[in-house]
Formats: sequence, C-alpha cells, structure tokens
Amino acid sequence: MVRSRSHQCDNKIPTPKFMRDLENRKDVELLVLSFYAQIRKDELLGPIFNGTIPKEKWPEHLDKLADFWETNIWGIPKFNGNPVLAHARVDTSFHHSISQDHFSHWLELWFSTVDSLFVGEKAMFIKNRAQNMATGQFLKILQLRPKEI
Ligand code: HEM
Repeated sequence: MVRSRSHQCDNKIPTPKFMRDLENRKDVELLVLSFYAQIRKDELLGPIFNGTIPKEKWPEHLDKLADFWETNIWGIPKFNGNPVLAHARVDTSFHHSISQDHFSHWLELWFSTVDSLFVGEKAMFIKNRAQNMATGQFLKILQLRPKEI
C-alpha cells in the first residue's frame, strides 16, 4: 500500500514537530520530576542521591531544583542555594569518590530527559548550561578536597 507523505497518524514516536519548548514553572517541574525519577533508580547515581536526600525530603529538593532552573532560564530570583558547597559536602560524605564519570553520566541523563520532553531555545540553553556547570562544579570539588588526597 502506498501511503501519502502527509499522513502521519500512524507515527509511534513523537517527532519534534509535535513537541514544544519550556514555557513556565509547570514545564520545569515536569522536567525535574522526570529527571530525578531516573536518577534515583540509576545504578551509578542513585545510591549517592538516595544516600544524601532522605525519602521525605525529596519534594523539598525537587522544589529547590525547579527554583534553580527557573532562575537560570528566566532570571526569576528564586534559587538561593549553593551547589558548590552542596557538591563538596556530597564528595566528603562519599569519601572523595565523586569523579568525572558521575558528572558525564548526570549530563547524559539530563540531555536525554530534556530531549524526550522539550525542543527549542530554552531546551538547548539548559543543556548547555548544565554542560558548562559540570566542568566548573567538578573542578571546585577537586579544589576543595584536603591537600593530601
Ligand atoms: C552539572 C551537573 C549538576 C547540576 C547542574 C547540579 C545542580 C545541583 C543543585 C542546584 C543542587 C542544590 C544545591 C543546594 O542545595 O544549594 C544540587 C544538589 C545536589 N547534587 Fe547536584 N548537580 C549536578 C551534578 C551532580 C552530580 C554529578 C551529583 C552526584 C554525583 C550531584 C549530587 C547532588 C546531591 C546529592 C545534591 C543534594 C545535596 C544536599 O542536599 O545536601 N549533583 N545539585
């Protein structure tokens, strides 16, 4: 059977044509919720996140991360945390074992989650922002380690 090129109803995978960019807080919340749902069951990153953030604190943490991205995307002054200190503390509690692999894998999951939900300028921006941040955060972790390590 010859199918018309414009007939797309039987397309199983949504194409970017049907996706849109992040537009508001609700979009950021959906992204953050989907991302950390994956992080929490991830073999490499799950134990670190679940070992740091108790079950009952997750809603609070997700809210803070939504603030973080809202501030980054639209400049809305909501986030007032300190990722450098937070990550240095995490590195200390895991005996200075945080490596570039953790950051690369975090980024892989971030990219695939963003791409599965949104497409556009903001989606691109938050992927670039995370990529740039990953290098800075990891260098800071190394700098803040005790000298003998
Ligand atoms: C570029 C990549 C990353 C970004 C943008 C990012 C962003 C953030 C932000 C904004 C916070 C909240 C900081 C605060 O509480 O003030 C945070 C906390 C945290 N991050 Fe990351 N993060 C990244 C990578 C990672 C990686 C690779 C790990 C684990 C290896 C990690 C583990 C954590 C944990 C466990 C917390 C909670 C700390 C706590 O509440 O004590 N993050 N992150």
